[in-house]
Amino acid sequence: MMHFLRIKGGAKLSGEVGISGAKNAALPLMALTLISKNRVTIRNIPNVADIKTMAQLLRNLGASCEFANENSLTIDASGVNSTTATYDIVRKMRASILVLGPLLARFGRCEVSLPGGCAIGQRPIDLHLSALEKMGANIEIKQGYVVATAEGGLKGANIVFDKVTVTGSENIVTAAALAHGTTRLLNVALEPEVVQVCEILAAAGVKIEGIGTSELTIEGSGGKLLKISDFEVIPDRIEAATYLCAGAITNSKISVTGANAKHLTAVLAKFEEMGFGIRISGDKITILPAEKIRPCEIVTTEYPGFPTDAQAQFTALSLVANGVSTIDERLFENRFMHVSELARMGADIRLNGHIASVQGGGELNAADVMATDLRASSALVLAALVAKGVSRVHRIYHLDRGYENLEIKLKALGADVERLEE
Ligand code: EPZ
Repeated sequence: MMHFLRIKGGAKLSGEVGISGAKNAALPLMALTLISKNRVTIRNIPNVADIKTMAQLLRNLGASCEFANENSLTIDASGVNSTTATYDIVRKMRASILVLGPLLARFGRCEVSLPGGCAIGQRPIDLHLSALEKMGANIEIKQGYVVATAEGGLKGANIVFDKVTVTGSENIVTAAALAHGTTRLLNVALEPEVVQVCEILAAAGVKIEGIGTSELTIEGSGGKLLKISDFEVIPDRIEAATYLCAGAITNSKISVTGANAKHLTAVLAKFEEMGFGIRISGDKITILPAEKIRPCEIVTTEYPGFPTDAQAQFTALSLVANGVSTIDERLFENRFMHVSELARMGADIRLNGHIASVQGGGELNAADVMATDLRASSALVLAALVAKGVSRVHRIYHLDRGYENLEIKLKALGADVERLEE
């Protein structure tokens, strides 16, 4: 059944909203259980569609995945008896590529459907593949599948990533944990989600030097499966940024709880530059209204820089600033799909290649708009919160991939929003 959100703009927001576990941390951590010899319980799992997809992929491989409740998942991968991640799953979720490293390291072979392009750009996986080749894998593309073999297992290697890649780093770090010998990685992604993968491996006894830096040295277990302890997923920094944007765009005071402000330094600094107040107290971040909302200059880049996953939300937020904001998207070539939908609400945004100039301060009017990818969709929801009248955001299955209980959380903050069937 297709759902849409009906949002009546104009409500002031108030109160607190709890932040869920990070989807982009939970996904690699679920894949990582493929190299565990024991059952692992993961807490603070977000209840979103991508997690269900990853659970289905692990089940297809022969693992058992049981949800004790919506936010606690126990995985037992000891019985995995297939090494194929099929097209029907991978085409639903590119992050399926995260099983490549662990499967190859454990079984010495695997077949993973090659993810194609997606709404936000071309998104190749060449860096994942060339790193595995350096570790001794033989890789071929056959009938749309990456067919990887490494007889006798993967070997430690010296690898320099040509570009910073988040899932690429996670894939190779996990593979290296089971390889024979020592792997040295340079230009590793610094995202907190990558750091958590390293920390869980270290807690399982893997010797990793340099956690939290771009240079890692990992001593592999020589093919021996690990004993991974139960753990809790870190908070979703992008979900937190999105709700703080909801506070900002309506110029309301709201708080997010269960968040980690340290992971949001670049985002919080932008709110302050725009004139909003930010208060941090433990795991609670409060945003305070601005007297005058100033335009912003944003360049998306790797962590700890401003995250591309919050770009669309800040594009929407810029619509209420007094003046022209400039938003430069450096990571993905096609991540402005929200711009033409926002235009349907009267937004004045000029696109010039990867740079958007957003004229703030104009009137936004409600409209029917279509979600195109996860973060673009959240920008439409944000704009609808301030547009005059009743908007309908269609195709919200994109939102359901990454936002847990979005309309329930927004309603709790006082937004006038309903989920309805098309
Ligand atoms: C992760 O994708 C996230 N997904 C994305 O979040 C996020 O936008 C992105 O990192 C950047 O922060 C998950 O964690 C599951 P990359 P990933 O490899 O790892 C190029 C969301 O909305 N590249 O760091 O796929 C690539 O094209 C999603 O939650 C290569 O050229 O991104 C891009 O320009 C969307 N070759 C840049 O590197 C490769 O082999 C960074 O991509 C790999 C990447």
